[in-house]
Amino acid sequence: MMNRNIIVAYDENRAIGKENHLLWGQREMQEDMKRFRTLTRKATVIMGRKTLVSIGAALPGRRNIVLSTDHSLVFPGVEVVNSLDEAYATTSQDNSVFVIGGSSIYEQAINNVDRIFATEVAASIDGADSFFPILDKEWKAVESEDYKSDENNIYPYRFVTYERD
Ligand SMILES: NC(=O)c1ccc[n+]([C@@H]2O[C@H](COP(=O)([O-])OP(=O)(O)OC[C@H]3O[C@@H](n4cnc5c(N)ncnc54)[C@H](OP(=O)(O)O)[C@@H]3O)[C@@H](O)[C@H]2O)c1
Repeated sequence: MMNRNIIVAYDENRAIGKENHLLWGQREMQEDMKRFRTLTRKATVIMGRKTLVSIGAALPGRRNIVLSTDHSLVFPGVEVVNSLDEAYATTSQDNSVFVIGGSSIYEQAINNVDRIFATEVAASIDGADSFFPILDKEWKAVESEDYKSDENNIYPYRFVTYERD
C-alpha cells in the first residue's frame, strides 16, 4: 500500500532555508543527509521547482517529480507536473512517496501525508527565509532519538517521526 511522507530538516524556529539554500552545508550535518538518502532510497520524491534549482540535479536512484507552473519546463531526470493533484495522480501506484520541500510544497502537502520524518536541529540560523509549517495537535511524535554534535554534525539534532493521532 502506498504511503505518503514528508521529510524535512528545520531549526529551532522551524526555518528550513535561506536564499534558496539549506541552512547548513551537506557535510556539516552528515547524519541528516544519510537519513535522507536511506529513507528516500528507491522511493519517489516530490519537490518544488525552487528546491530542484537549489539541489541542481535530479536525485539519483529515485523517481523525481517536480512541481512548476511552467508548462514548458524540461529538466534532465525529472518529471514536471503542474499541480499537486497531478503529482499525486501520477504517483498513485508508487510504493513510497516523499514530499521533500520546499516551504510552499510542505504547506500544500501537509494535510495529505501519513507521516513526517523531521530532523530537528538545535540551532537558530540568522536570516532564514523559508519555514516549515507548525504542526496541528493531531500530529504526535511516535519516535524520537537525540544526538549530540560531533565532528560530522555541527549542531545537536533529533530525529523525530510524527504520525496523526
Ligand atoms: N531543510 C529542508 O528540509 C529543506 C527541504 C527542501 C527545501 N528546502 C529549502 O526550501 C527553500 C525553497 O522553498 P520555496 O517554498 O521557496 O520553494 P519550493 O517549494 O521548492 O518551490 C516553489 C515553486 O514550486 C512550484 N509550485 C509550488 N506550488 C505549486 C503548485 N501547486 N502547482 C504548480 N507549481 C507549484 C512553483 O514553481 P514555478 O515558479 O516554476 O511555477 C514555485 O515557485 C530553499 O531554501 C530550500 O533550500 C529545505
